[in-house]
Amino acid sequence: MFNNTKMIYVDNSATTRVRPEVVEAMLPILKDDFGNPSSMHGFGRKAKKHLDDARINIASVINSEAEQIFFTSGGTESDNAVIFGLVRYFEENEIKGKKKHIITSKIEHPAIKEPLECLQKDGWHITWLNVNREGFLDLNELQSLITKETLLVSVIHANNEMGTIQDLNKISNICKTNNVLFHTDAVQSFGKIPINVKDLQLDFLSMSAHKIYGPKGVGALYIKSKDHFAPLLIGGGQENQIRPGTENLASIVGFGIAGKLLKGEMSEHTKNLCGLQIELMKGLSDIENVMLTGPSLQMIKENTLTERYLYRIPGHISICVRDVEGENIVLQADLKGIAASSGSACSSGTMEPSHVLVSLGVPHNYVRGSLRLTLGRENTEDDVRYIIESVKDIAGNLQRKALTLNN
Ligand SMILES: Cc1ncc(COP(=O)(O)O)c(C=O)c1O
Repeated sequence: MFNNTKMIYVDNSATTRVRPEVVEAMLPILKDDFGNPSSMHGFGRKAKKHLDDARINIASVINSEAEQIFFTSGGTESDNAVIFGLVRYFEENEIKGKKKHIITSKIEHPAIKEPLECLQKDGWHITWLNVNREGFLDLNELQSLITKETLLVSVIHANNEMGTIQDLNKISNICKTNNVLFHTDAVQSFGKIPINVKDLQLDFLSMSAHKIYGPKGVGALYIKSKDHFAPLLIGGGQENQIRPGTENLASIVGFGIAGKLLKGEMSEHTKNLCGLQIELMKGLSDIENVMLTGPSLQMIKENTLTERYLYRIPGHISICVRDVEGENIVLQADLKGIAASSGSACSSGTMEPSHVLVSLGVPHNYVRGSLRLTLGRENTEDDVRYIIESVKDIAGNLQRKALTLNN
């Protein structure tokens, strides 16, 4: 029988446990304050007040105006809404012919990658920027590829597989100088590291609640100005005409509380997670046939010193084990009571290495053996020690198996 109380959960980039304060805030909405925020009676007005408060909470995490926050069903919808919303606006206004170029990176989450691949098939010109071995973009390349036709640059802020954090400030300056719109998928960074949309001059930013100890199926999109934007969905007038549909109020309230709490704890959260991250990376780097991937240990140490600019999401660690399949490592870790994930995806019966690892240029004998360990607020130093010992065992056992099979 699966017993989750005995497990060490280190898959916080996949999702997080909803924190008790969030559940507490959500329950009254489900039980008593169940009104529809669009209704004019008392139930409706109370629901509307909850909705407004949640919007203020989320806006304050990124220093936006409350009216610039639009609630959605999560990061995937926010990402899709930006891409297809802009395209629809430009097509309806018959200016597609002038601006039909979008620049993105080779390490986007599928929620951006797939919509852009769709557009590519429809004749849009999409440029996929390269990254270096640690997952950072070459900003000179970005600068050189912008043309008069470029409508949008969309770049993931913190990569979900590598934890690499791009320098939004520099990217935004390039976009603004060239009069290009800028979107960032901040699903993995929102609430965890400082983001100030005004200072950064962002046009769009995607967020999700379940990565910050909030509920699943809710997120938000920051839109600087909705003047040149058409909604993805069509229906009622909710969310200021940008996202129709009766609001998922309990979850939105939970999202607001999760954001507010994490914002208040941000520097403590970062400090704790960076400390554990450094210990875990050090321990794993000593294991034979294990390669750390993404931004280096040295960069994490710099994180903790400057606090000015972060290179990697606090608590994010990724490794590759030589000549083994990531899926096997995840299953072995599960048997040892560790819940983690791999960057490989099973497609058509074969394990395909992730597009992110391939883009980083991870050597072919390591690229299939990826393991992602993402620490969260519940992890301890004991967890870190146990994980290091377990990975040592697992890597050794799988290596021996691979050798026996090959002989
Ligand atoms: C970077 C990134 N973007 C988008 C998403 C999708 O978010 P959601 O699960 O809320 O749809 C994720 C989820 O893992 C993500 O990591």
